Amino acid sequence: MPLTVDKGLANTVAADTRLSFIDGAKGVLEYVGYDIDSLARNTTFEEVTWLLWEGSLPTNAQLQSFERELRADYAVDPRVLDLLRTIPRTAAPMDALRTLVSALAHFDSEADDASPAANRRKSVRLVAKTPTLIAAFDRFRKGKPIVEPDATLTIAQNFLWMLTGQRPTDAMSRALDVCLVLHADHGLNASTFAARVTIATQSDLYSAATTAIGTLKGPLHGGANQEVMEMLLEIGSLDKTEPYILGKLARKERIMGFGHRVYKAYDPRATYLKTFAKQVASDTGNLPLYEMSRRIEEIVLAQPNIREKGIFPNVDFYSATTYYSLGLDLDLFTCMFAASRMSGWTGHCIEQLAANKLIRPHADYTGPHGLEFVPRNQRGGTASTSPSVSGTMSVTA
Ligand code: COA
Repeated sequence: MPLTVDKGLANTVAADTRLSFIDGAKGVLEYVGYDIDSLARNTTFEEVTWLLWEGSLPTNAQLQSFERELRADYAVDPRVLDLLRTIPRTAAPMDALRTLVSALAHFDSEADDASPAANRRKSVRLVAKTPTLIAAFDRFRKGKPIVEPDATLTIAQNFLWMLTGQRPTDAMSRALDVCLVLHADHGLNASTFAARVTIATQSDLYSAATTAIGTLKGPLHGGANQEVMEMLLEIGSLDKTEPYILGKLARKERIMGFGHRVYKAYDPRATYLKTFAKQVASDTGNLPLYEMSRRIEEIVLAQPNIREKGIFPNVDFYSATTYYSLGLDLDLFTCMFAASRMSGWTGHCIEQLAANKLIRPHADYTGPHGLEFVPRNQRGGTASTSPSVSGTMSVTA
């Protein structure tokens, strides 16, 4: 087949998937055929994780047994917590999470067992333990005692419990659960692609998850909701919103939380979240922040050139105020994205392995050809080309 150049792979189909479907022009996202809006309104993160992995919604009995399975795996090996305590408190939580998810492998005797059954068990462990690692690192860096997970709670309830040491209200845990449902999968996004590249080499699931976290960390992928919140805090109040946004637009600066590579219509994940964000903000005394968000949306969408470009609020725009209202520090927002996407990453890895092919595109070589080799001592420069040799000798002498 002739090679074609497609930088960014925007016009390349690199995998088949049964997990999620996106129609960016119409603003559609489905998980296994179910519209994201109906899933966000009616399901839990546990239910959606099962859906992504199994390809159908669970029965009541299946869901209960799956929840038991996940809850039995909330706790992490104490040696992982010992390692956590050696990470500098100033480390970014996403960096800490990358290290800690990788460390889980050392304490899992099945880490290198590539059988479907072992991969399924490891997927459960990864989804169950990721929130525990995030909450534990946040407590540690604040000098607070780490809170043990509570296996009677859902993933969302348990995370808020471990983070704050207090029982969350139903509205708070539901708000977090909705965010987890909305971020669980999204086609072949950059971090999912990275996870599939790693597992396709027949590496292990922990390595694939670690790769994915490193990829999600980048501001072009997972960091936008933090930047939305920073923008809202910088604006400060409703009356300053209009001049701030119009000024940014006049300077041709981007408004964080708007636009999407795939969606050129309203991001379907943002519609329900918008109503939910209002409720949570109102319950937690953060309504002014929500009102600022609404005002920003009105101003941005009133610009004819913005609408022509198909720029609308994306999922990050309203998840920012939701996370903030739940009391999460700004630098934990991307970690929550990782906790949710872990279900999609592991699901994609299992799917990749079921019909595996090494993912190995080509690069267009743009360098020179046919150069004649020149020995090092004939390449010019000063004679001190061997300081490392003499340096090494003086150290060992
Ligand atoms: N605010 C203002 N203008 C924007 C914009 C935004 N948030 N996002 C895109 N645009 C404009 C660009 O300036 C560009 O205009 P031009 O054609 O006049 O130069 C045009 O829309 C296309 O932008 P481009 O960067 O080519 O689109 P993309 O599909 O590659 O980018 C994003 C998608 C997400 C990277 C981009 O919309 C963005 O940076 N958004 C803000 C960050 C964000 O919210 N990211 C989270 C995504 S879930």
